[in-house]
Amino acid sequence: MNVQSPNSWDAIDKKTLVHPYTDLDAHAERGPHIITRAEGIRLYDADGRSFIDGVAGLWCTSLGFGEERLVQAAAKQMRELSFSHVFSHRSNTTVIELAERLTELAPDSITRAFFVNSGSEAVDAAIQIVWYYNNALGRHEKKKIIGRDRGYHGVTVAAGSLTALPYKQNDFDLPVNDRFLKVSCPHYYRYAEADETEVEFGARLAREVESLILAEGPDTVAAFIGEPVMAAGGVIPPPEGYWPAVEKICRKYDVLLICDEVVNGFARTGNMWGSETVGVQPDIMTTAKQLSSAYLPIGATLMSEKVYEVIATHSPKNGIFGIGMTYGGHPVCAAVALETLKIYEERDILGHVRALMPQFHERLARLGEFDLVGETRGAGLLGAIELVSDKETREQFPPATKAAPTLYSHVFEQGVSCRPLPGDGFGICPPLIVTADEIDEIFDGIEAGLKTARDALRS
Ligand SMILES: Cc1ncc(COP(=O)(O)O)c(C=O)c1O
Repeated sequence: MNVQSPNSWDAIDKKTLVHPYTDLDAHAERGPHIITRAEGIRLYDADGRSFIDGVAGLWCTSLGFGEERLVQAAAKQMRELSFSHVFSHRSNTTVIELAERLTELAPDSITRAFFVNSGSEAVDAAIQIVWYYNNALGRHEKKKIIGRDRGYHGVTVAAGSLTALPYKQNDFDLPVNDRFLKVSCPHYYRYAEADETEVEFGARLAREVESLILAEGPDTVAAFIGEPVMAAGGVIPPPEGYWPAVEKICRKYDVLLICDEVVNGFARTGNMWGSETVGVQPDIMTTAKQLSSAYLPIGATLMSEKVYEVIATHSPKNGIFGIGMTYGGHPVCAAVALETLKIYEERDILGHVRALMPQFHERLARLGEFDLVGETRGAGLLGAIELVSDKETREQFPPATKAAPTLYSHVFEQGVSCRPLPGDGFGICPPLIVTADEIDEIFDGIEAGLKTARDALRS
């Protein structure tokens, strides 16, 4: 594949990522979009319009809306035990059962769970666990964490230091210090060099990780974090061979591998975990969102026995492993998460996702026939298109065109809600209970929106 000129690193940083993917002017004019109710995978707004959910809320409403079993699970738990903390050797049966179920489901390398309230907190806890782990081992210099350009890991001061998107870091004084390092985004279509194959590109980016570790000094680098398939930065599946090569490098330099599964987890990419899809065994995993199908806020930081043993052995020195939060492991959220996992199993959600993948990817690939669409990409029931003004050169629309928000509006006119993404990406991520007919409805809406948006964008 011959990658043309606007792909230099500088050009991308300045041109691509500052592309607006929210039309603030339009929002100011219209005011917020008020949603009043939802059922199944359809939402209803204050203007009486109904539309189909093409992005699972915010990559999270896997079981759709109005799932009575989740409502009942919450009500039952509220009656039985509406709160109990998980500090100082106190726990509750619901959160214990959830931890057991979750670690059974997790890759073999993972044996322990720590509960939080969101994906950002899960990443924050992962970072603190990494630092604590290295202090416990007396490796006080081994603290740097490598993230990736366009990676999304949440918004707390620490997690936001790894979210390498301008809107999260500009003017927030992030990254907060020089413990947060960054390597290139593994997006072949946009960042490969001319005549570089996908495998060569993946190998080059993995070498970049190794070069950075060596340049910083392996004794200072503690962890590498990545979404197996990047989501909010543009939905970017990794190039072939990249992740296994990164894992090998991490093992070589005793760098912990953190897979951020907040979007990928629970069948989204066609396997239970994104780490399975890309073929790695993480030391630490973060999850949230589809853990409770977004019915209640809950997240978890999962870790290997090796990591757990070190922090558990060290904790008595401080009296407590001090990152607990009042609502971490909240029994009502845990009950809903547990019921969500039961539903995934009973309804074979993973099998359902796999059965729909050929249709989803066939429809996604067809979008590539539109002259506005430079690339189609995805994994499992997660996909995106990238809008370009010139398919040959891959040149993007000028930022003022607001190409992705424009497409969003045109697709919404068709009764389908998807998500504009950085770099003029347009994300498609239906709830996992979507049916074959609903997949057609979503893609029919996007095709119709692309036709009308074309006229608006080309005029
Ligand atoms: C991969 C990933 N990690 C972390 C987060 C942060 O999760 P939350 O918004 O629940 O804090 C997100 C949110 O979209 C995410 O996509």
